[in-house]
Amino acid sequence: LCGIVGYIGYRDVCGVLLDGLKRLEYRGYDSAGIAVLNNKEIEIIKEVGKVSDLERIVSNRAPKGNIGIGHTRWATHGGVSAVNAHPHSDGYKRFVLAHNGIIENYHELKDELSAQGITFASQTDTEVIAHLLYKIYDGNMLNALTYLQSRLRGSYALAILNRDDTDHIYCMRKGSPLVLGLGDGEALCASDIPAILPYTRKVIYMDDGDIAELSPRGIKVWDERGMPIEKKSFFIEWDLSMAEMGGYPHYMLKEIHEQGGVCRATIKGRIHDGKVDLSGELAMDEETIKGFKAIHLVACGTSYYASLIAERVFERWTDLDIKVDIASEYRYRDSKISPDTLVVFVSQSGETADTLAAQRKARESGAYSLAVTNVQGSTLARSCDDFLLLKAGPEIGVAATKTFMGQITSLYLLALYIAKIKGTLSDQKQKELTDEMIQLAYKIETILEREPSIEDLAWKFADYKNFLFLGRGMSFPIALEGALKLKEISYIHAEAYAAGEMKHGPIALIDPNVPVVVVAPKDSLHEKTLSNIQEAKARHAPIIAVGFDGDERLASDADHVLYVPSTLEEFSPFVTVVPLQLFAYHVAKKRGCEIDKPRNLAKSVTVE
Ligand code: F6R
Repeated sequence: LCGIVGYIGYRDVCGVLLDGLKRLEYRGYDSAGIAVLNNKEIEIIKEVGKVSDLERIVSNRAPKGNIGIGHTRWATHGGVSAVNAHPHSDGYKRFVLAHNGIIENYHELKDELSAQGITFASQTDTEVIAHLLYKIYDGNMLNALTYLQSRLRGSYALAILNRDDTDHIYCMRKGSPLVLGLGDGEALCASDIPAILPYTRKVIYMDDGDIAELSPRGIKVWDERGMPIEKKSFFIEWDLSMAEMGGYPHYMLKEIHEQGGVCRATIKGRIHDGKVDLSGELAMDEETIKGFKAIHLVACGTSYYASLIAERVFERWTDLDIKVDIASEYRYRDSKISPDTLVVFVSQSGETADTLAAQRKARESGAYSLAVTNVQGSTLARSCDDFLLLKAGPEIGVAATKTFMGQITSLYLLALYIAKIKGTLSDQKQKELTDEMIQLAYKIETILEREPSIEDLAWKFADYKNFLFLGRGMSFPIALEGALKLKEISYIHAEAYAAGEMKHGPIALIDPNVPVVVVAPKDSLHEKTLSNIQEAKARHAPIIAVGFDGDERLASDADHVLYVPSTLEEFSPFVTVVPLQLFAYHVAKKRGCEIDKPRNLAKSVTVE
């Protein structure tokens, strides 16, 4: 959690840092700060609140300079206060640094330093790093940083200024993301690509143990032993407009509206003559695929719900034994993971700590690991045997929407590809399914045209305190996702159940003050879902249903229906999720919530 940015070059550094922090604010937003190095002096300005609060302060007394670092915080160690905000220094402002991660042995280090008479200004783990660096520095930064690495346990991405070294920024990384940008006469570091995009699209991804030195003339990198290493640079396909709001009031709304395009871009070039072909992208060959007996899908949050949807098509279309688990559970369970298991890790960021830990476990068991992620250079993509890239473009809103669409589209393609190679689906069935997949983008876009009626409904329901979401089969994970979206951004309590489970407990909650949202596409379980609507109605709950166009029966059973274009049963999640995302968005908007940056949440959860 937390976002860091650093710049060295010829521009006015305050502007670059504040702009970068705004682009990283989704990673943390309880306090923010910058440090500028000029004339062998480092000035630090930090404040509780959002980057815009910091910007107001900086605008009155912007330090001049072309080298600096910035930080936007999501508190872990030490409460939210200006003192605990980053950057932190050693007390003499010789070393000033911004940190993303957690230093696990900071108590031990703090005791050691306190015994030497050092006092600490903050309660953070980060300040300890600055004091330690001050102690060990002997005039050679590389030596000091390699030794520093050996003393730190836990995770960190660090951007470091040395008051006496006015030509460099130093970076270190272990376990937390850090990407370096290579510009013309300038260099940057940041926790994520959008902060770098306005200046360059040429990037280097730091690996664990790497130490980097940034200067206007370029970037040098060493490994943890201090040996120089050649790093490959990558060209980022995303352009700046993709990371900007483009006239929408919130990133989340823009990203919901981009979902038809995400679906189209994900399919593009991957379906030929009614069959899916991923052979040009995946490292796994046909023999490897034929050898898989089981598949595990492992993820957190919304990515876990995308995996639950995929589970239902993997079991329909392939002969694989399938298991889906939450990464924080999987990593500690005794699941049987064998070399003929394909373990798929689904993560938009590719940096989720639990998912990465689960991946390490799978690798130790000898299984084949595949990352399905939106970030090409992410830790997950680089640690797995194979990866499949989502084509969602940058997602800035903290609540995942278009990456969810990218995930289900990618996982369906994977299922169809495996089914083709294993021969578990006829050519005709593959054609029927891929033909429908191609239509989905248009269907999603049709729903977006119906936004005004969804907004009206959201306004009617924005003051309720509790919601129940229900769905069966393909729609159960959509009920979970609809409830998660609502609670994340509107802070309304929402629970989701498999509709058949309602009578086993949650029915006790139902009364006229608990609206029940039922995901009820016309599928093979439709009649049963309609019975569940009757049960909720009999207890006077207001019913909102999501159903297929033309389903008049639903209109007579439910109080309100959000209609979506009909599709094959397997594909219903692609269309039913969209009105629920919009419903959550408009409820949150009506309630005046911070939609793109909901309280307590962060976009990449890099701590356990
Ligand atoms: C919900 C949301 C989270 C993430 C979860 C996993 O809107 O965004 O639940 O899905 O934190 O994150 P990734 O996919 O980056 O591993």
